[in-house]
Amino acid sequence: MSLLLTGGMGYIGSHTVVQLLDLGQDVVILDNLSNASEKVLERIEEITGKQPLFVKGDICNRDDLNRVFTEHQIDAVIHFAGLKAVGESNEIPLSYYHNNVSGSVTLFQAMADHNVKQLVFSSSATVYGEHNLSPLIETMPTSATNPYGKTKLMIENILFDLAKSDSEWSIINLRYFNPIGAHASGLIGENPNGIPNNLLPYVAQVAVGRLELLSVFGDDYDTPDGTGVRDYIHVVDLANGHVKALEKLSALSGCYAINLGTGNGTSVLEIVNTFSSVCGHEIPYQVVPRRAGDIATVFANAEKARSLLGWQAEYDLNTMIEDTWRWQSSNPEGY
Ligand code: NAD
Ligand code: UFG
Repeated sequence: MSLLLTGGMGYIGSHTVVQLLDLGQDVVILDNLSNASEKVLERIEEITGKQPLFVKGDICNRDDLNRVFTEHQIDAVIHFAGLKAVGESNEIPLSYYHNNVSGSVTLFQAMADHNVKQLVFSSSATVYGEHNLSPLIETMPTSATNPYGKTKLMIENILFDLAKSDSEWSIINLRYFNPIGAHASGLIGENPNGIPNNLLPYVAQVAVGRLELLSVFGDDYDTPDGTGVRDYIHVVDLANGHVKALEKLSALSGCYAINLGTGNGTSVLEIVNTFSSVCGHEIPYQVVPRRAGDIATVFANAEKARSLLGWQAEYDLNTMIEDTWRWQSSNPEGY
């Protein structure tokens, strides 16, 4: 099978490339490197002994897309490319709507024109909005509170309409919960630009001495220890979820939303304590007021992925944090 991975140089994409190359699949990556380093390619080759084809290009650029679909026989697409910072999306919403929504429509049009109608899309648990109670299940109503989340919801809805209009399409919207961890080699991992927004890269940079102090956003939530609870999932489990989704696509018609989570919730303080025991020293932190827009508890009902894809998460929290720490401590400044 020959696969196009948009955004394949990024955090989740690069881990998925590794899984696919290990399975002997042909992979073409299209990435504009807006949030990735070219060094990822060397690291992927070091891990797998194989080189994926890389095209530097943009999903918003129809010529770049035509070039890829004309020069390569593509069977299916995994669409990771997009901007993903919630806070930034409030500041520059037009960039988010352009890059994520217009870029996706341009990609889907190019796919249709080249008769490639199998797609896995990177959606997010953010589409469950603020009002559903965890465990979150795919049949719940969706909503979004910030431009980033709205782009994910818009793209999901565009894909549902597309599949309704033409039964040749088979599409899976994977709703990721909180991806963390890194490949066990320590060669690829999450490499945020600037100060991290997400908990794990922040804690990891405090642990390695790049940042001084973690701010814990609120300890007065209605949770066992008062701090926010999330469903953290190992990025390698997530990558395997894409492999399973691809295997299923050819037998499906229509558009399906599927959660990728573990079904377990972990609090901020549990993360901090587990990280301390893995790295062997305290993680300094202070409790500060809640972050606007955060909710107390988010975790998945992971049953649909199990029944439809035959997938479930395998890595436990300790392994996720050991792998995060191996990546961070062997690459303290990132790539
Ligand atoms: P990432 O930023 O590491 O990867 C995204 C990649 O897309 C980057 O390599 C970037 O250079 C590329 N890209 C961005 N815009 C592009 C464009 N217009 N054309 C071509 N390439 C472009 O992010 P990630 O964490 O690997 O996330 C991958 C996908 O999963 C994103 O769509 C994100 O919204 C979604 N997602 C991520 C999380 C998370 O917590 N990491 C959670 C839910 C959903
Ligand atoms: N947190 C802190 N301090 C920090 C960062 C985070 O206490 O410096 C807390 C948050 O308040 C929250 C938890 O750690 O309770 C996790 O926060 P993240 O920012 O790591 O993750 P979120 O669950 O807020 O958001 C993530 C992605 C979104 C995606 C969402 C889907 O960043 O893009 O998961 O559930 F939409």
